[in-house]
Amino acid sequence: MIWYPYQQMKTLRPPYKIVDADGVYLYTQDQKLIDSVSSWWCTIHGYKNPELTAAIQEQAGRFCHVMLGGLTHEPVQRLAKKLEEFLPGDLDYCFFSDSGSVAVEVALKMALQYNTNLGRRRPTVLALEHAYHGDTFRAMEVGDDEDYHFAFEQKRDVVHIPTELSALEDVFERCHDQLNCLIVEPLLQGAGGMRMYDISFLKRARQLCDQYDVLLIFDEVATGFGRTGNRFVADLVLPDILVLGKALTGGCIGHAVTVANRKVYQAFYSDDDRMALMHGPTFMGNALACAVALKGIEIFERENYMEKIRHIEEISRREMGGFSDPCIQEVRIMGGCTCVEVIDSSVLDGFQQFAYERGVFSRPFLKYMYSMVPYIIQEEELVKIFDTMKAWFHRPC
Ligand SMILES: Cc1ncc(COP(=O)(O)O)c(C=O)c1O
Repeated sequence: MIWYPYQQMKTLRPPYKIVDADGVYLYTQDQKLIDSVSSWWCTIHGYKNPELTAAIQEQAGRFCHVMLGGLTHEPVQRLAKKLEEFLPGDLDYCFFSDSGSVAVEVALKMALQYNTNLGRRRPTVLALEHAYHGDTFRAMEVGDDEDYHFAFEQKRDVVHIPTELSALEDVFERCHDQLNCLIVEPLLQGAGGMRMYDISFLKRARQLCDQYDVLLIFDEVATGFGRTGNRFVADLVLPDILVLGKALTGGCIGHAVTVANRKVYQAFYSDDDRMALMHGPTFMGNALACAVALKGIEIFERENYMEKIRHIEEISRREMGGFSDPCIQEVRIMGGCTCVEVIDSSVLDGFQQFAYERGVFSRPFLKYMYSMVPYIIQEEELVKIFDTMKAWFHRPC
C-alpha cells in the first residue's frame, strides 16, 4: 500500500484520485479542479504542456538515463551551459541531483568542505527561524565508509536566527569565526508559513558574509523561476551557492541543481583527490530531466513569464489585498504567492473539501491557506481561487 506524505495514515481522508491533468486543471472522475498549489509549487507551465512532453519523448527515444560517473551526455552539457548564462554573476558550476533536499545537502557539504579545504575549522551553519530546506536525515551518518565521507567528520551544529538585522549582526559579531555558511530561503519562507521578509536583510547578510568569508547559500528551490516576482532573488543579491529544484523541470521529473560560484569551485580544484567533492546521486544529470529543463527555461524566457507573474501579483493584490475577517491574522502577497494566515488552524478544517466542491484544489497546512498557481493561469481562473478562499470566511456557520 501507499504510505502518504505528512499524514497520519489512521485518520487519512482518501486523497482525490487524479485521472487526467491539462493546463491548470486536475481531473478526478467527477470534478474539474484548478490546481492552486501547482503540485507543491513546481508545475509552473501547467500540466501536459505539449513542448515539454515532446522534449521528454524525444530524449526517451535516445536514452532515458546514464550515470555521470565516468560518462556525460549532451542534455546535461547543454543544461549546465544554459544555466551558466541564465543565472547571475559567476554562479557557473552546476552539481545536479535528484531532489531539492539532496541539492541542499550538497550545498551544505560544499560549505563545510570549502572551509576544510582551506584548512579552517568552521563547524556551524547559520540558518533562519521557520526555515524549511527539505526532509533528508542522516543517510551519510549511518554509512560507514571513510573513503566517501572523510571530509565531513568534524562535529557540526546549526544556529537559528529570526529575519531581523539586529539578530544577524549580533550572531556575526559573536560567532563569525565558527560559521561556514548562512543558508536562507530568500525573501519568502515557504513551508515555514509563507513568511515574507525584506531584501535589506539579505543585503546586510551579503556584506557580513563578505566581511568574514562566510558562504551565503540561497535555497531557491521554492522561490526560483519567478515565484517572488523576481526571476531569482539571486538577481538582487548574489549568493555564493544557489540551490534550484521544483520548477527547474517544470514539475515533470524530480531534479535539482546546486550551483556554486568560482570562489567555491576553486577551493575544491586541486591535484589532491581528498579536496574533491564526495557526492554523487545515482540520478544526477538524468537525461530526461535535463531535456525537459532546457525546454522549460526556453518557454520561461520566450513567453515572458516575468510579465505573467507581475499580472498574477496585480490580480492577487486587487482581489485579496484588503481582505480581512475576525478569523484572519494576516494576508500576505508576493509575486505568485498569496497566503492567508488564520488565527487558529481549526479555522481551516474542512476548507479543502469546500474548495473541491467549488472546482479548486487547495492544500492548506497548519494556519496557512495559500495559492502558488501555475504561471499560465488565466485571470478568471485566478479570481475563482480567491473567490473560493473568500467564500470560506463568508459562509454561514
Ligand atoms: C525551500 C525548499 N528547499 C528544499 C525543499 C525540498 O525539495 P524536495 O521536496 O524536492 O526534496 C523544498 C520543498 O518544498 C523547499 O521548499
